[in-house]
Amino acid sequence: MSLLRRIEQGQAGIPTPNSNPAPRPAMPAPGAPVSPASPPATPVSPPVGPPAQSPAGGAPSLTLQTRRVSAPSTTSQAGTYYDLKRRVQNRLLAELDPSLDIKKTDEVRRVAQELFDRILNEESIILSRAERARLFEQIAADILGFGPLQPLLEDDSVTEIMVNGAKSIYVERNGKLHRVPITFESNEHVMRIISRIVAPLGRRIDDSSPYVDARLPDGSRVNASIPPISLIGPTLTIRKFFKNPLTAEQLIELGTITPEALQFLRACVHARLNIIISGGSGSGKTTLLNILSGFIPPDERIITIEDAAELQLRQEHVVSLEARPPNIEGRGEVTIRQLVINTLRMRPDRIIVGEIRDEAALDMLQAMNTGHDGSMSTCHSNSPRDTLARLETMTLMAGMNLPSRAVREQIASAIDLIIHEERMRDGSRKVTHITEVSGMEGEVITTSDIFVFEQTGYENGKIIGRLKPTGLRPKFMDKIEASGIQLPSSIFGTEGVRRY
Ligand SMILES: Nc1ncnc2c1ncn2[C@@H]1O[C@H](COP(=O)(O)OP(=O)(O)OP(=O)(O)O)[C@@H](O)[C@H]1O
Ligand SMILES: [Mg+2]
Repeated sequence: MSLLRRIEQGQAGIPTPNSNPAPRPAMPAPGAPVSPASPPATPVSPPVGPPAQSPAGGAPSLTLQTRRVSAPSTTSQAGTYYDLKRRVQNRLLAELDPSLDIKKTDEVRRVAQELFDRILNEESIILSRAERARLFEQIAADILGFGPLQPLLEDDSVTEIMVNGAKSIYVERNGKLHRVPITFESNEHVMRIISRIVAPLGRRIDDSSPYVDARLPDGSRVNASIPPISLIGPTLTIRKFFKNPLTAEQLIELGTITPEALQFLRACVHARLNIIISGGSGSGKTTLLNILSGFIPPDERIITIEDAAELQLRQEHVVSLEARPPNIEGRGEVTIRQLVINTLRMRPDRIIVGEIRDEAALDMLQAMNTGHDGSMSTCHSNSPRDTLARLETMTLMAGMNLPSRAVREQIASAIDLIIHEERMRDGSRKVTHITEVSGMEGEVITTSDIFVFEQTGYENGKIIGRLKPTGLRPKFMDKIEASGIQLPSSIFGTEGVRRY
């Protein structure tokens, strides 16, 4: 997006918050009446769209020149500081060459820094070196980045960011939620950042379509949900994208899985078993799917299908497909289901579907049952049995009027293994079940747990326990052996069973 367009979108005159936890001025609620002393009323801006400010320095003149402005420490000083920031930001945006390509961040930043220094000199604004740097960073974050979220996006220890209206921001660090002393100026400021995220993608968010899934340029996954569906103001949830996703070794170090269970899963992937990874929201399903996909031999053609591409496979022969939401005119949608069907004509050796959440389940099961074994996917659920129930419900959503029993038979013959993960209350993620789907008995799908997590204690806020073999050997062992892999029986704890 060009700078000119940014200015048109109202980037000028946006007072941004300060990441410093110092006291903040009380900001009027959105839509609050304008006080009589305010400058002439400007039109009320729509939820997303240009704020009512003149980019070319139309803000009322403030007597800030030659005054030394410190970081805010009292309400009025904070107000002065924001006024100063807005004033400098306005001038900077007005004077920056509008033809600069905003994507060339380094260049725009360098030009902005020069201009910033000149404006401060011309206006005789005296700031300490640290204050100057902070003011520039905040202005740069607003022009080039995501305002107050910028430092959180750059902080690698933050894995997730949750904005609940302007004044409440939480982050996840080490699996635990923490409230951070960072706020937006107002709900409109949150809306502007949301529109900055979704507008370049040709997406729309407003009263009539009040939620949207999008991605930041770095691949981070974003959901924005705004009023009227959100009753607490505009909300944002950002799942950070890491260029180096967790590895199998890290999963063992973190206590998510044991080396034995991982060895078993590696064998299952080699033997082309169909696997579903299930678990609650944020339990680590996609991360584990990425790791298991990494076990696929390099000579196989892998096709991945996702809503928002998160998987990062290392193999050379990978085709990644991404579903598309409808465009602003409501056209051009491509669903996961359509992609699964399309993939069958692309000669896949393996089909990896990022997540099954609707009637695409039917097509995925059919693919698994018609020679595309070795396929994998994830599904939200509370337990392995719940995973089967969810798959059944989602398959019935396809509306083919299939009898329940037929659907269950499809599921039982398609799925070989369910790996269930949980986000524990200590923030850790653990594989709690590795369960074989073994067949049908009457109307019921039969399952056997091969590994189950056993908690033995809770110490210093940490869950103590281990993913243990149950002593059962899966029925599909012949498939594993046929693929040339011999697993020691100790993996299944069967030696121990014999001893007793
Ligand atoms: N084993 C793990 N230990 C610790 N953190 C993990 C583990 N696996 C994943 N995470 C972290 O948890 C977060 C969620 O991971 P992931 O996206 O894999 O979960 P998910 O179950 O696919 O989530 P969703 O339900 O939203 O699709 C990420 O920030 C990731 O880095
Ligand atoms: Mg996921």
